[in-house]
This record gives sequence, structure tokens and C-alpha cells, in this order.
Amino acid sequence: MSDILASLHTRHSQYVLTGTSALSDRKLVDLVSDLVVAVPSAFNSQSQRAVLLFGADHAKLWDIVKDALRAVSVDEEAFKKTEEKIDSFAAAHATVLFFDDEETTSGFAEKFATYAGNFPIWAQQSAGMLQLSVWTALSEQGLGASLQHYNPLIDEEVHRVFGIPASWKLLAQMPFGDIVTPTGNTERMDASERVVVKGL
Ligand SMILES: Cc1cc2nc3c(=O)[nH]c(=O)nc-3n(C[C@H](O)[C@H](O)[C@H](O)COP(=O)(O)O)c2cc1C
Repeated sequence: MSDILASLHTRHSQYVLTGTSALSDRKLVDLVSDLVVAVPSAFNSQSQRAVLLFGADHAKLWDIVKDALRAVSVDEEAFKKTEEKIDSFAAAHATVLFFDDEETTSGFAEKFATYAGNFPIWAQQSAGMLQLSVWTALSEQGLGASLQHYNPLIDEEVHRVFGIPASWKLLAQMPFGDIVTPTGNTERMDASERVVVKGL
């Protein structure tokens, strides 16, 4: 099996993480930066953006999430479970925030009017490619991560607190760190149920 295939198979959602990282923060920044550049985009539009939150900023993000969820919670008992979950993300080392720069995406839609409606879809697809790339690269380094979606509930506060440009739309949050308890393989359907081959 090639290295890339093995890495794709090994990556899983990891939820029990510590505040440490086997890779230095400088190397983590380089890794994410490299992947933002490497990952393809429709018409080479390059609208994907990433923000890395370390230390107090990482903690602040998960406070924002907790406050936002508390505000919409109807039941104190149910919120306790939610709080535990958010605390587990806060216990990680850092978080990558993934964005699409909608100004760039809509600029391409205007320029290539025939495909205008496809650009927001392609932006999401490119975002998925970047998220998987970062997730897999972190996993290759022995780090655990999960993919979270507290947007749009937290968008306003995230933009305000971290000074994010207004045109950057928040798409996902990826807390990561060293793994305490690894999760096992998640169940997968057999490929034969999902792959059709013709003409062979
Ligand atoms: C587009 C997408 C959205 C996801 N959203 C969440 C999420 O909001 N919270 C979460 O804990 N996991 C989320 N996941 C993780 C999936 O539940 C997980 O990848 C899947 O069950 C397979 O498990 P594995 O990651 O361990 O291989 C998401 C995954 C994808 C691809």
C-alpha cells in the first residue's frame, strides 16, 4: 500500500486529546500553510483560508462555543453533556479554523458567469479536500483531530474576537493534539456496495 493510502486508512476522528503536540507549533503552522497552498481549487480560485488558534486563543474559541450553546440550551441536564464535549475539545492542543473567502469565490462566479452557480459548491468541495489533507497530515505525525461544525452559531463572535475578515465564511473547526485514548476503526460499508465498474 502506498504511503498516502496507508495514511488515509489510518486517519480517524480522535476525541480524547491532550494539550500537547508531538510536532512543534512552528512546524504545525508550516504544515497547514503548505497544505493550504497544495490543495487544488476550481479554476485555481484559491479561496480557502485557515486560522490556527494556539494557547489562550484556542481556549477562547471553545469558550465562545460553550457560551453560544448555553444561550440556546433549554435543559440544564442536557447542557452538562454538551459542556463535557466542548471541554474535551478545549483540552486539545490547538484548533484549525477553516474558511472560504466568499469575496474570492463570488469574484470567480462573476468572471466565469456560465459556471456561476457552481463556484460556491466547488468552494465547499475544495474545503473538504483541504480539511481531509490537514486531518491526514496531522494523523501521519501521530496527532489526533476531529472535525466540528459549530458554525453558524459562533460566526459573529469568532469574527469579532479573532479579527477575521468579513468575507471569510467559517466552514469547520478542527481541534487537535496528542492522543490519549485512540478511537478504533469506524464501520465501513463494503466498497462493492458503493463502487460500480463497467466495461471491464
Ligand atoms: C463533512 C463532514 C462533517 C463532519 N462533521 C462532524 C461533526 O460536526 N462532529 C464530529 O464529531 N464529527 C464530524 N465528522 C466526522 C465523521 O463523523 C467521521 O469522520 C465518520 O464517522 C468516520 O469516522 P472516522 O473519522 O473515525 O474515520 C464529519 C465528517 C465529515 C466528512
